[in-house]
Amino acid sequence: MHDRGFSILLWFGVAVLLIHCLVSSVNADGVTCSGIVPMKHRDENISIADFGGVGDGVTLNTKAFREAIYRIRYLNRTGGALLYIPSGEYLTGPFNLTSRMTLYLARGAVLKATVDTNKWPLIAPLPSYGRGRERLGGRYMSFLHGDGLHDVIITGENGTIEGQGDIWWNMWRQRTLQYTRPNLVELKNSRDIIISNLTFKNSPFWNIHPVYCSNVVFNYLTIVAPADSPNTDGIDPDSSTDVCIEDTYISTGDDLVAVKSGWDEYGISYGRPSRGITIRRVTGSSPFAGIAVGSETSGGVEDVLAEHITLSNMGVGIHLKTNIGRGGVIRNITVSNVYMYKARKGIKISGDVGDHPDEKYNPNALPVLKDVTIKDVWGERVQQPGLVHGLKNAPFTGICLSNISFTGAPGMRNSPWQCSDVSGGAVQVSPLPCSELMSSQQAGECASSFAKW
Ligand SMILES: *[C@@H]1O[C@H](CO)[C@@H](O)[C@H](O)[C@H]1NC(C)=O
Ligand SMILES: *[C@@H]1O[C@H](CO)[C@@H](O)[C@H](O)[C@H]1NC(C)=O
Ligand SMILES: *[C@@H]1O[C@H](CO)[C@@H](O)[C@H](O)[C@H]1NC(C)=O
Ligand SMILES: *[C@@H]1O[C@H](CO)[C@@H](O)[C@H](O)[C@H]1NC(C)=O
Ligand SMILES: *[C@@H]1O[C@H](CO)[C@@H](O)[C@H](O)[C@H]1NC(C)=O
Ligand SMILES: *[C@@H]1O[C@H](CO)[C@@H](O)[C@H](O)[C@H]1NC(C)=O
Ligand SMILES: *[C@@H]1O[C@H](CO)[C@@H](O)[C@H](O)[C@H]1NC(C)=O
Repeated sequence: MHDRGFSILLWFGVAVLLIHCLVSSVNADGVTCSGIVPMKHRDENISIADFGGVGDGVTLNTKAFREAIYRIRYLNRTGGALLYIPSGEYLTGPFNLTSRMTLYLARGAVLKATVDTNKWPLIAPLPSYGRGRERLGGRYMSFLHGDGLHDVIITGENGTIEGQGDIWWNMWRQRTLQYTRPNLVELKNSRDIIISNLTFKNSPFWNIHPVYCSNVVFNYLTIVAPADSPNTDGIDPDSSTDVCIEDTYISTGDDLVAVKSGWDEYGISYGRPSRGITIRRVTGSSPFAGIAVGSETSGGVEDVLAEHITLSNMGVGIHLKTNIGRGGVIRNITVSNVYMYKARKGIKISGDVGDHPDEKYNPNALPVLKDVTIKDVWGERVQQPGLVHGLKNAPFTGICLSNISFTGAPGMRNSPWQCSDVSGGAVQVSPLPCSELMSSQQAGECASSFAKW
């Protein structure tokens, strides 16, 4: 009892400290996504009501949305247009966005996805996946969709995008899905995107999926789905560059943020990496991972920075995952200032995660994983601190851990680190990591990472 009271007290202390850090880091460093995408004021402001939109929760508004967006595209104003959604519940089928538009959800506005699966058109699989992620062939179009767009803002006064995912989760559970489930938002081949000040709820599948995109900002989002909802990843930057995710709360049934870049032979031949991904001040919980890279990383993932991350009730805090057949280079990944409360595993880096698109994958296409810095991590009630398993013929190198503390359940020691086929270094890590990470190579592989020690 004594221990428990103490740990709760400690946790509160950390929470207070963290709030302090959040406030001071925004104010002191001024580090934000701003600058990546210019904020735009629109010349024109049209309301969905002008197109016959009815926010009564039962009227189907697909036609109103498609017409409003057609109108914005057709007018093609230089300064673009804002589509205003007043307070109310707007049931609608999926629709395409267009360039130079702001979709603005007023306070109390809800865009509610129809549960009539016949209203969801099928679209082609992504070339870097070669097939639907779940089922062969095409996949359901995302609720909000964009292809080849630029200058798109989706924002408002914390209005809600409601996916009504239940029906899809049940089809998955009952194995009656014909095609891969839809994302809530997918933007493909697009640039200069801001998604901010919104709530996403109950996505059928991954919530937000920018793929082959550049210059994308996500901030002030709330993304929620039940812990047992299948594959409801929060934000999955995929084969995209200069993506910034900040000040966001995510609590879903799968990885909160997962950086990807295509699947096995399809991803290798498409060859589009994810690069320049910033994840900052993200808070949340999940039975899977908090910050993830993978497992689909065949185009490569590099220059990822995740910092000031607060996680609770996690499967895995930080998870870098790949597999044989993936190929791709994962490098220069930095994760720092992570607070974790209750996790099965603190850190997992492994080369045997995820399935293959088909039997045509090349078992000799081994991934490269190197130059990973994980530092300033504080975790409490972490059952296992870390598991790092490289591949025998492609060992992970330059895995540098510093200033990490994981304690187990109150009064209990957590289980030991496990490592194989890995090299790197560790300083100020508790409990002591495996010998592979305590070897003499620290000076070389981890010299820059450990500069201050
Ligand atoms: C857009 O128009 C709506 C009324 O239709 C108004 O309430 C809202 O404030 C306007 N927004 C902007 C940014 O002008
Ligand atoms: C919109 O206008 C721009 C020039 O401002 C032009 O380049 C573009 O082709 C137009 N798009 C459409 C769909 O008419
Ligand atoms: C949406 O855009 C895609 C291509 O980006 C196109 O194939 C599809 O027909 C469009 N759907 C609708 C309903 O406009
Ligand atoms: C936005 O709404 C969600 C609930 O839908 C709430 O949990 C969250 O705190 C709200 N965010 C802001 C900034 O008001
Ligand atoms: C979201 O809200 C924040 C804080 O109120 C504001 O600074 C920001 O400009 C808003 N984002 C957009 C895209 O309007
Ligand atoms: C590593 O990534 C960071 C961004 O997280 C970038 O600033 C830095 O230049 C990269 N370093 C190398 C050696 O590529
Ligand atoms: C170690 O990490 C904690 C966060 O877990 C941070 O507050 C502290 O400043 C770090 N110590 C050093 C010496 O960097």
